[in-house]
Amino acid sequence: MTQCTAWQGDLTTLAVDAIVNAANESLLGGGGVDGAIHRAAGPELLAECRSIGGCPTGEARITAGYALPTKHVIHTVGPVWQGGDAGEAELLAACYRNSLDLAAKAGCRTVAFPAISCGVYGYPPDQAVATAVRAARDWIGANPGVVESITFACFDADMLARYTRELDEDSR
Ligand code: APR
Repeated sequence: MTQCTAWQGDLTTLAVDAIVNAANESLLGGGGVDGAIHRAAGPELLAECRSIGGCPTGEARITAGYALPTKHVIHTVGPVWQGGDAGEAELLAACYRNSLDLAAKAGCRTVAFPAISCGVYGYPPDQAVATAVRAARDWIGANPGVVESITFACFDADMLARYTRELDEDSR
């Protein structure tokens, strides 16, 4: 059974098969976790991202990890929060689903996500965490045993508490 866990720390340090980047549609880098990933991966990551030519919101693209300890980076573009009536929840769920589909296609057994859209894109954390856990659990149900572990990498204690609570509640 795929293990879903919450963990506090810097996503770029995880030696998993794939880390997921909270990117923007250009895939040309930015701040937040996107900036941290590009800084740690080195310039070759940006060069590969340039060759992809962008990614629509809700979709995902995969690259190598270069100088990062991870083998792959899966770049997904979360929705910008616009109040909740612009299909944000469906787009956010699609980020997790499409990222896991790409991870599985690349043979990744361990995958780590940041809290997509919960920073610059302003998604209310409680709603984002509930959507993330539900989307991951639904994907696991449809793809049993394909992925060994999914880690929700939280940058602060507040996000760790939210994921821990959600994972406990969802497993009841
Ligand atoms: N490790 C883990 N989590 C991190 C890290 C890190 N090194 N750095 C930031 N985070 C967390 C933030 O605290 C937040 O909870 O990742 C979550 C997502 O925040 P952002 O990185 O701001 O991503 P997002 O809200 O999806 O906005 C994406 O920001 O950086 C730009 O290019 C990016 O335009 C895009 C937008």
